[in-house]
Amino acid sequence: MLIRLQKFLAEAQVASRRKAEEMIVQGRVTVDGAVADTLGTKIDDEKAVVCVDGKPVKICKDAIYIMLNKPEGCVTTVKDQFNRKTVMDLTADIKERIYPVGRLDYDTSGLLIMTNDGDLTYRLTHPRHNVEKTYIADVEREPSAEAMERFRNGIVIDGRMTAPAHIENIGKNRLKIVIHEGRNRQVRKMCEAIGSPVLHLKREAIGSLHLGELKKGSYRYLAPNEIDYLKNL
Ligand code: URA
Repeated sequence: MLIRLQKFLAEAQVASRRKAEEMIVQGRVTVDGAVADTLGTKIDDEKAVVCVDGKPVKICKDAIYIMLNKPEGCVTTVKDQFNRKTVMDLTADIKERIYPVGRLDYDTSGLLIMTNDGDLTYRLTHPRHNVEKTYIADVEREPSAEAMERFRNGIVIDGRMTAPAHIENIGKNRLKIVIHEGRNRQVRKMCEAIGSPVLHLKREAIGSLHLGELKKGSYRYLAPNEIDYLKNL
């Protein structure tokens, strides 16, 4: 199939499409031995020999999609400079190289998607992509009605306004929060800003994909309808 070179590089997990475009114009990519530094070049994804910085890259045709219930005390990176446990350690028995889609903090638990589908990763983590993420937050103290209203309308964190968000009291000092953005430690910072610091935070859902009964530290493969759902978000 003929596909654009930048899409090929994203699907091969080399980089996001935007970064792949930069690599192309920097002349770091060759197709069948010739430098391909023009954006929009189309290649045959089954026949072309594509190299980045002289190293061949390939699309892995066996796409894998899993949902992990990330425990606290584990980092969402491939390797940790402090040798802490990573989400890769929890999925080490999967032989394909998969990567986390977005991040959860070290001290946050819950739903994390991992895949080797670079295109899906790119689309789901792009700031333009407003997928809803649902969190359950246990907080130090219940926010007032006025504080919840401020939260809903958007508040300033790190000098910038957040988009409107959903917040609901669902139990003693327990809040259900739905946000569309993915800023650094966003839920913690938003709760802090309304005077209700987070004690525990769990991601419960991404769009309509829920964690369900999946045990902490375990993963499961996504069903075909769940994969289609994510691809069409
Ligand atoms: N918001 C946070 O504060 N932490 C997370 O891990 C995810 C969202």
